[in-house]
Amino acid sequence: MSHVQLKNIKKTYGSHVALKDVSLSIDRGSFFTLLGPSGCGKTTLLRAIAGFHQQDAGEILLEGQSISHLGANKRNVGMVFQDYAVFPHLSVFDNVAFGLVQQKLPVAEIRERVAAILATVQLDQHAQRMPHQLSGGQQQRVGLARALVIRPKVLLMDEPLSNLDAKLRVELRRDIRSLQQTLDITTVYVTHDQEEALSISDQVCVMHDGVVQQVGTPWIVYNRPANRFVATFVGSNNFLPVALEGAGQPLVLGQSLAVPKSVTSQGANGLVASIRPEKIVVNEALSEPGLHFGGVVRQAMFTGRELQLTIEVTGHGLIEALTEPSAVMIALKPGDAVRLGVRAEDFLFFAPGVSGALLQ
Ligand SMILES: Nc1ncnc2c1ncn2[C@@H]1O[C@H](COP(=O)(O)OP(=O)(O)OP(=O)(O)O)[C@@H](O)[C@H]1O
Ligand SMILES: [Mg+2]
Repeated sequence: MSHVQLKNIKKTYGSHVALKDVSLSIDRGSFFTLLGPSGCGKTTLLRAIAGFHQQDAGEILLEGQSISHLGANKRNVGMVFQDYAVFPHLSVFDNVAFGLVQQKLPVAEIRERVAAILATVQLDQHAQRMPHQLSGGQQQRVGLARALVIRPKVLLMDEPLSNLDAKLRVELRRDIRSLQQTLDITTVYVTHDQEEALSISDQVCVMHDGVVQQVGTPWIVYNRPANRFVATFVGSNNFLPVALEGAGQPLVLGQSLAVPKSVTSQGANGLVASIRPEKIVVNEALSEPGLHFGGVVRQAMFTGRELQLTIEVTGHGLIEALTEPSAVMIALKPGDAVRLGVRAEDFLFFAPGVSGALLQ
């Protein structure tokens, strides 16, 4: 059931349209992530849900009731910010207690609730510390505890991990996800990190220029990107032009390829095929129908988990391939000739234009 509903939200700053016509339905208890490049409107949308600013048009519903007219402190939502936003002059305990003190709850209840939430975010040992005595990750846990202690119906988080180093980011990401699942709290999360979005979310909403491009599970958004923008922004992709032969047979890299009818019925002008780097087979024959083509290694980068190859394909240009770093693969060096293979079913096709729709 839809817990938070956004209907036709519009927001402009002067002449700049930050949100064009955003409608979303967010399920109860789900982890819903707004993903998109800088400036696409993620924070604007989150702040509209929080009530920090009013949208110009459209409606926001929580549990079926409009909250558009309510101020931020009446909406029953908790917010976690990128820069932690802890009060520097208050102890961890007092930072977390702040919202409850404002609600004028009895002191004993405040103590109990703050202690419980500090234990949940593993800060119970640090209740009396001041923020400057905490690491970035611990400060963000204070931010999280402060948002959760008011028992909000919805938790909103705006890039909460982006000020942390890479290792801590992954650690806290796991903690946030498991806390969200334990508390079963509807969460709207903002990030421009596609890997973070895929790994943490039930649903990912990809935005571009104030417009929702696609909403789907991480698996769908990655494997069935609705358009070329999503295919480009989420993960990496190689794009190859598609030509049509006289008989309407599509050609990729000059070779014919079996494709769905919906693709050929589009006509050839500007059609593109995409292929994920990890789907490219290097120096190995395909056991299923597909394309084979030759290239020359231009760069080989070993990342520990994988080998990233940049390969120049004659008549096309550069293609990225990801392979297992086997002993044979690791020996590849710039200038080596390689044979590449891609299964026909691993190609996706997109209509013309930078945001051409997926054809299937
Ligand atoms: N107060 C403001 N006045 C004018 N323009 C604004 C204001 N706030 C945001 N904008 C503009 O609206 C657009 C959306 O901004 P927003 O902060 O929502 O982007 P974002 O997706 O959160 O980006 P980032 O990933 O950089 O945080 C941007 O083009 C931004 O410059
Ligand atoms: Mg932002």
